[in-house]
Amino acid sequence: MGPLDLLPLMVMSMCCCVHFASAWTVNNFLMTGPKAFLTYASSVQRGAQSGIHECKHQFAWERWNCPENTLQLSTHNGLRSATRETSFVHAISAAGVMYTLTKNCSMGDFDNCGCDDSRIGQTGGRGWIWGGCSDNVAFGEKISKQFVDALEGGHDSRAAVNLHNNEAGRLAIKATMRRACKCHGVSGSCSIQTCWMQLADFREVGNYLKMKYEHAKKLEMDKRPVRAGNSADNRGAIAHTFRSIARTELIYLEDSPDYCVKNQSLEYQGTEGRECLKGNKNMSQWERKSCRRLCYECGLRVVEKRIEVVSSCNCKFHWCCTVKCDRCTQVVTKYYCARRDGGRKPQNKTKRRHRGRRH
Ligand SMILES: *[C@@H]1O[C@H](CO)[C@@H](O)[C@H](O)[C@H]1NC(C)=O
Ligand SMILES: *[C@@H]1O[C@H](CO)[C@@H](O)[C@H](O)[C@H]1NC(C)=O
Ligand SMILES: *[C@@H]1O[C@H](CO)[C@@H](O)[C@H](O)[C@H]1NC(C)=O
Ligand SMILES: *[C@@H]1O[C@H](CO)[C@@H](O)[C@H](O)[C@H]1NC(C)=O
Repeated sequence: MGPLDLLPLMVMSMCCCVHFASAWTVNNFLMTGPKAFLTYASSVQRGAQSGIHECKHQFAWERWNCPENTLQLSTHNGLRSATRETSFVHAISAAGVMYTLTKNCSMGDFDNCGCDDSRIGQTGGRGWIWGGCSDNVAFGEKISKQFVDALEGGHDSRAAVNLHNNEAGRLAIKATMRRACKCHGVSGSCSIQTCWMQLADFREVGNYLKMKYEHAKKLEMDKRPVRAGNSADNRGAIAHTFRSIARTELIYLEDSPDYCVKNQSLEYQGTEGRECLKGNKNMSQWERKSCRRLCYECGLRVVEKRIEVVSSCNCKFHWCCTVKCDRCTQVVTKYYCARRDGGRKPQNKTKRRHRGRRH
């Protein structure tokens, strides 16, 4: 069960004292009431999904290619690893939640929230004043914290790392915002402009965080055992370790496992069966090497599959106003990673176990 599947249970715990989610979350929302919780819950869920969706895009041609859902977001479910990859999942999910809530706010979806008008009318710079609808990131940030950060119940280093990465994700939203302006003045002379701050495309946030992922830092925690129960000491040590790291950077504790192979405890499928790309001159360097990275270097081979794709074609516009198209079938070739002994040469089955990574 994923943390966002917990949302209904959190609601339940508020009315029936089923103490399931962290007390922190519930207390947080008891202050504003279950109604506030329900107002935001579906947007939060949607935001987290958009984070995972962006993750899938960013990692489409990499061995690890994101969890199927928001399952790995939380430490509640026993998935306690804190790798470079989970750091990205935390950041992009927190960012997705903040982004969606902020957009909702600008669209007038919530009664108690609107554009950030705190600077309207003030001079912003040479030839422009603040105006329009600046996206209210402060609102998105606040609600995102209440929901996403509350999933980290513990006081240990993993919880601290997750919280740090959540924060880095939210900062990415702010870092990618930009000023948009509109011209005023006699017949578009643009002698004066009004400007506002608006969110970048979420894709840009994804690109930004992918870069942070590539430069993520491994945290060397003090390995001395901490006396059980003394969480104040523990937090002190963690805070000390964190002091040297910028809030915008992603951090992790453990090296990544071998993502070539299936790992049940991580609910990771391995690269067998994954699609890779071949033969298009237009591809980026990264895409061009996808078959090598996903298949060959993982001890797999590449199989070719021909797939019929039906699409509209030869469309003609008829006056007025219809468009008529033919249906064309096109055969496209796709490539997938498969086991070496799966096809052409039937081999001794005992070899199948040795499917390690090739060096
Ligand atoms: C928030 O925005 C998303 C799309 O960005 C939309 O699907 C959702 O319904 C909105 N939430 C509310 C409460 O209107
Ligand atoms: C699965 O991942 C865990 C955590 O990284 C690791 O300890 C374990 O050895 C892995 N198992 C396999 C079969 O690779
Ligand atoms: C190559 O990429 C450009 C821009 O990304 C695109 O417009 C064009 O259709 C592509 N060509 C092929 C053969 O895929
Ligand atoms: C597979 O190989 C093992 C020894 O490597 C042998 O004992 C076994 O008979 C072989 N099986 C088949 C089906 O060839």
